[in-house]
Amino acid sequence: MTTIPRSTLSMEQEINRLRREMNAVILAHYYQEDDLQDIADFVGDSLDLARKAAQTDADVIVFCGVKFMAEGAKILNPAKTVLLPDLEAGCSLETSCPAPAFKAFREAHPDHMAITYINCSAEIKALTDIIVTSTNAEMILQQIPADQKIIFAPDKHLGAYLARKTGREMLLWDGSCMVHERFSERELIRLKTQHPKAHIIAHPECPETLLRYAHHIGSTSSLLHYTAAHPAHEFIVLTEPGIIHQMKQRSLGSSFYPVAGVSDGACNSCNTCPYMKLNSLEKLYLCMRDLTPQLELKDDLIIAARKPLQRMLEMSTSIPNSAKEGN
Ligand code: 13P
Ligand code: SF4
Repeated sequence: MTTIPRSTLSMEQEINRLRREMNAVILAHYYQEDDLQDIADFVGDSLDLARKAAQTDADVIVFCGVKFMAEGAKILNPAKTVLLPDLEAGCSLETSCPAPAFKAFREAHPDHMAITYINCSAEIKALTDIIVTSTNAEMILQQIPADQKIIFAPDKHLGAYLARKTGREMLLWDGSCMVHERFSERELIRLKTQHPKAHIIAHPECPETLLRYAHHIGSTSSLLHYTAAHPAHEFIVLTEPGIIHQMKQRSLGSSFYPVAGVSDGACNSCNTCPYMKLNSLEKLYLCMRDLTPQLELKDDLIIAARKPLQRMLEMSTSIPNSAKEGN
């Protein structure tokens, strides 16, 4: 029986050996633990990673992220083996939009097209016209004729933000991200009082009550670019603090202050994504060693869900790829 290497160093060496032997590519989202970001071939936002998954010539895609991201990789590359270190890595946006209810909602509004945030299940993607991420949503919406009625799901905060930015009225699904919805306004004000020169940067999954304080609003890659363009600054961060690992590397001399979430007594600062944080270096090693858990989706679901994802990729070709190359 093979054993788990004891030290982190030998675990990394084993992951590197498996990566070579399996011809695998390791993709990691910015919210992953630091060691997973460091060992990945590419670190990026949802759009970057979907593109990398679509383009790779590796035989195996190992996705250090959450399930909807790994599903996206499988949908875009069904012939490849897609591994996720922990299959329980879900997303509160995904659970807030069950397929039967969404289907009924669409049927109740037959004259609306469905623009859906990538943070949803494969079943929801199959019921969607165009998928978007927080990086490309605004520019994709601008390509839709002004008289076309739109349903936006599942994130009501991102939807409301996009409606304000584009001036489009949209029918919003009532879903939200449990992490971005929970940042404490009181903590934000306390940090701003302590660091009056700090720039407040926020992901558009935050509610308007928080976004109104922000100097810059954008996807994870957009926030990262903003901090990299402002070296030796102070930043108050309204997104999952995993991204601060990359921010520190690209904005030398800057200080970063993550905002705590409203406490429910069960968590430390209540601002980390419990799903993203299910993955670990050890689980990464084990999933590569044992080729499990693997993402499996039915062929007809893959075919139906691929169309809106491909439309998204086609409609955002003018956005440069910002994934950072790792190992
Ligand atoms: P990005 O596409 O901006 O990386 O967002 C992913 C996500 O899950 C945010 O909560
Ligand atoms: Fe989902 Fe929020 Fe976690 Fe992103 S941070 S994966 S939206 S629960």
